[in-house]
Amino acid sequence: MNGESKMYQDLDRILVNRDEIREKVKELGKRITEDYKGKSPVMVCILKGACMFFTDLIREVDLPLSIDFMAISSYGKATKTSGVVRVLKDLDQDVLGKDVIIVEDIVDTGVTLSYLMEMLVHRGAASLKVAALLDKTARRKVPDLKVDYVCFDIPDAFVVGYGLDFDQKYRNLPDIGVLSPKVYGDA
Ligand code: PRP
Repeated sequence: MNGESKMYQDLDRILVNRDEIREKVKELGKRITEDYKGKSPVMVCILKGACMFFTDLIREVDLPLSIDFMAISSYGKATKTSGVVRVLKDLDQDVLGKDVIIVEDIVDTGVTLSYLMEMLVHRGAASLKVAALLDKTARRKVPDLKVDYVCFDIPDAFVVGYGLDFDQKYRNLPDIGVLSPKVYGDA
């Protein structure tokens, strides 16, 4: 898909283009390969937003890793205040004694991630790290949340593309863009 796709008309601007993404993902893959030398980490994709980042990233990690998937429900505002996250699809494998890397598309308030981390520590993961494509630190509500690997620090804007959605759309855009307010209105 190129920039002539109609979906691009709904963007104010492109924030991170596909070449920049590819380069950063490659770099991150190298770092993980070095950091986990001699280990076989379990890389966990948090559906759905992280799907593209995940499939690109794991192909840049030269280790005998395994993959798994989790889907988390969002209760909208209720989630943000209660901090409770519901697991819609759990991992297939037991993470007891394993080196786990959570792969997220974006860390926003940090509520989802802190809940997930607590859960996986509780299940006895030997180590736990987080790789996030985007970090929106300005929105953080969970203090001291440690995101080990971040590709891009971004401003507080409504971003879509490369897995990220608005109303389940725009995930298939190859670039990450700022969605025009005319599209989401008061959402
Ligand atoms: C997004 C993202 C994180 C979470 C981050 O998921 O993938 O899981 O929100 O927000 P937080 O830091 O404020 O908790 P979303 O609920 O949009 O689902 P999706 O990945 O299926 O699009």
